[in-house]
Amino acid sequence: MCGIVGYTGGRPAAPLLLDGLSRLEYRGYDSAGIAVMGPSGEPAVRKAEGKLSVLLDALDGDLPEGSSGIGHTRWATHGPPADFNAHPHTDCADEIAIVHNGIVENFVELRRELQAEGHRFTSQTDTECIGHLVERYLALEYDLEDAVAETAGRIRGAHAVVVASKREPGKLVAFRLGNAGGVVVGYGDGETFLASDLPALLPYTRDVAYLGDGESVTITADGPAYARLGGTRVDVEPSRVPYDEVSAAKGPYEHFLLKEINDQPETAIDAMRGRVSFDAGAIALDEVALTAAEAKNIDRVVLIGMGTSLHAAMVGRTWIESLARIPAEVENSSEFRYRDPLVDERTLVVSVCQSGETADTLAAMQEAADRGARQVTLCNYEGTQTTRIAEDTVLIRAGLEISVASTKTFVASLVSLLMLSADLGVRRGTLSAERVSEIVDELARLPQMLGGLASQKERYEALAGRYARYDDFLFLGRGVHYPLAMEGALKLKELSYIHAEGYQAGEMKHGPISLIDENMPVVALVPKYELYEKMLANVSEVRARGGTVIAIATEGDTDVAGVADDVLYIPEASSFVAPMLAAVPMQLLAYEIAVCRGRDVDQPRNLAKSVTVE
Ligand code: M6R
Repeated sequence: MCGIVGYTGGRPAAPLLLDGLSRLEYRGYDSAGIAVMGPSGEPAVRKAEGKLSVLLDALDGDLPEGSSGIGHTRWATHGPPADFNAHPHTDCADEIAIVHNGIVENFVELRRELQAEGHRFTSQTDTECIGHLVERYLALEYDLEDAVAETAGRIRGAHAVVVASKREPGKLVAFRLGNAGGVVVGYGDGETFLASDLPALLPYTRDVAYLGDGESVTITADGPAYARLGGTRVDVEPSRVPYDEVSAAKGPYEHFLLKEINDQPETAIDAMRGRVSFDAGAIALDEVALTAAEAKNIDRVVLIGMGTSLHAAMVGRTWIESLARIPAEVENSSEFRYRDPLVDERTLVVSVCQSGETADTLAAMQEAADRGARQVTLCNYEGTQTTRIAEDTVLIRAGLEISVASTKTFVASLVSLLMLSADLGVRRGTLSAERVSEIVDELARLPQMLGGLASQKERYEALAGRYARYDDFLFLGRGVHYPLAMEGALKLKELSYIHAEGYQAGEMKHGPISLIDENMPVVALVPKYELYEKMLANVSEVRARGGTVIAIATEGDTDVAGVADDVLYIPEASSFVAPMLAAVPMQLLAYEIAVCRGRDVDQPRNLAKSVTVE
């Protein structure tokens, strides 16, 4: 969950490290710190509790000198946010500096062991023992790479670590163990970079390589050298990323979240490019290497994901059943992994994971792989861990999403799931060419419809002015719109810290309706679709009990205006495209309410973009 950066080359390291951290702050913002390997030899460590801005204020432009170093933004696990718990951590002699992402599961035992040897600890973190272990092995005359490899062999759990040492100040050694988040190596001209995520590297290079599980990399100004931890050399070729710095900037928008909501038309186009043929009325995902016979042999689909990706998977489940006619179920990855699931060679596991690094989803995928399931993953980043486990990857092509709350990756996942469902239907012979062509016609209008919805910001500003004072919200939906109700509630709670629940409208009478009063606004998804009449009845029931209703309805529907206090219209669309459209009003409503409440929209408290711990 934490953000890590490293630099070695010919330029002053500190400004580059701080710039990299500013682009990674969405990964954690409990504290920030850098260690620069300067002329004196020792790492010059500067760190502070709080957001990066606190550290910048403390530095006040007085940056340590040196042309290599490491940096970190923290999402606290062991030890509360505090200056002394901030990374980088050092050894007793202050000769080694390390930054770390992950949890050292055996840190209590290691700490005791190291203290018995005379190592002094100055923080409450699990991380600090890593620096002391490296110190121990360097004292035994190991070279830096071997000392780091020995250290990696002693710590349990999943980790990404970067180590700098006084002995070889122009060299950094990093390793990755398990799934605690990525380590991306950036190739420059006479300089080399490390980061836990691409945005930190994009201003400097687009030539990157990802470190695999159990691999280490040594970087110098001359470039990287890869190896299996403590073992043989590994040849790794960099690949060129299509994203550029422009896509990582806010542009004219006040927040990344608002930019990303407005990116959605382009996101949808990118997701469909080369996969949807608007002339031929066809959909094909060539990257899924299933033969027709293999597709027909699938007897069950299990979709997994967490958070927003889980909600996308819930929508996808309905489409897999209706278009590919395969029994499908959906489960939260963290539940699936511990359930002794019934999965075999005839099961297709579809994981949705924009980061490609979510610990629970990776563990669930590994569980499925061990049981012989075939896997397709939907992911935003090539080369990440999910893409290494699954046989097939469908890149959702959402571009960089900087805001911690997901918006465009949700819509990109939905577009990708719809294409996957249609493609499977075609391969299995359950979906006619006419039906595919109808879906393609609708998809052709999707970008324009998304753009029209995103442009209505003023409407939501006014609405937020009236609704931001409430402390509880209910979101109701049925069928394919129930997951949208869940997603709407998630957006509101994470952005504005308002309590919100997503419910199946049919469940209301079985309990939740007793919550309804004038203090609990209800957001109801009532577009024109098969269950429209039933939803309208549910909305009337809420209204009859004094509830306030914001309806998301189809343009031209005047009936709904009679039972709702406010209506947010979306264009007419089938159940294949309406969920993508319905996402936008809920994103904008949550955004404007959060702004109204003065929340930190792009970096809500307690969250991190990639959840790389369980
Ligand atoms: O990278 P993933 O798609 O696996 O992330 C899963 C969740 O952590 C994520 O969707 C989270 O719920 C959102 N950022 C919430 O907006």
